[in-house]
Amino acid sequence: MDIVNPALNDYLLDHATPADEVLRDLAAETAAALPEHLSMQISQDEGAFLTLLTRLVGARRALEVGVFTGYSSISIARGLAPGGTLLACDVSEEWTSIARRYWQRAGLAERIELRLGPAVDTLKALPEEEAFDLAFIDADKVSYPVYYEETLRRLRPGGLVLLDNTLREGRVVDPEAQDPADRAIREINDIVTADPRVESVLLPLRDGLTVARKTARP
Ligand SMILES: C[S@@+](CC[C@H](N)C(=O)[O-])C[C@H]1O[C@@H](n2cnc3c(N)ncnc32)[C@H](O)[C@@H]1O
Repeated sequence: MDIVNPALNDYLLDHATPADEVLRDLAAETAAALPEHLSMQISQDEGAFLTLLTRLVGARRALEVGVFTGYSSISIARGLAPGGTLLACDVSEEWTSIARRYWQRAGLAERIELRLGPAVDTLKALPEEEAFDLAFIDADKVSYPVYYEETLRRLRPGGLVLLDNTLREGRVVDPEAQDPADRAIREINDIVTADPRVESVLLPLRDGLTVARKTARP
């Protein structure tokens, strides 16, 4: 299902901050080396939006679950306040080795820490502190409910949790779409909407991006 009319999609891409040479080269290398996985990479306009949101919340400490070849990590790290850092989680040594090269090239290698391993374990091992200003979740969909809970409790009030692919190419409204990932995304969408700890909106940006802001404690 096209979430947005394809012609409008192209227009939207043409009217977001353009990708620079580093991101263009990263997208081209990913397309050449991993064509069967290219759809996992976030788009140029979503990258621009991540940079914008990171800047808007003045994030100094950010968290990413799902690095792949590094497009979103670069987009987030570029929006961090001076001295800010990104903790990036993934399981793939192979894919993140491409990310590492581009972090270096973008001058961000010192600001991004990669933790390899199942992200549920990585998150649960983090201190129980409200340390993060922004978290971007874009890994295995079945674990979204756990990723959401583990990141939200470590987010400062006023911070953002961003969840990618929350429309699942429209399968969220297809009753016949019942694979574990479809069900997990419907579940997390319902959890976020009903969660009194956040205010949220599910944006029709590409495959759906949920933006949830942790509300300040009374
Ligand atoms: C959709 S891709 C991320 C795309 C990335 N955000 C980008 O902009 O290019 C999903 C990533 O999640 C990782 N992943 C899958 N299962 C995981 C798990 N259990 N723990 C950590 N990472 C996982 C995959 O290795 C893959 O790199």
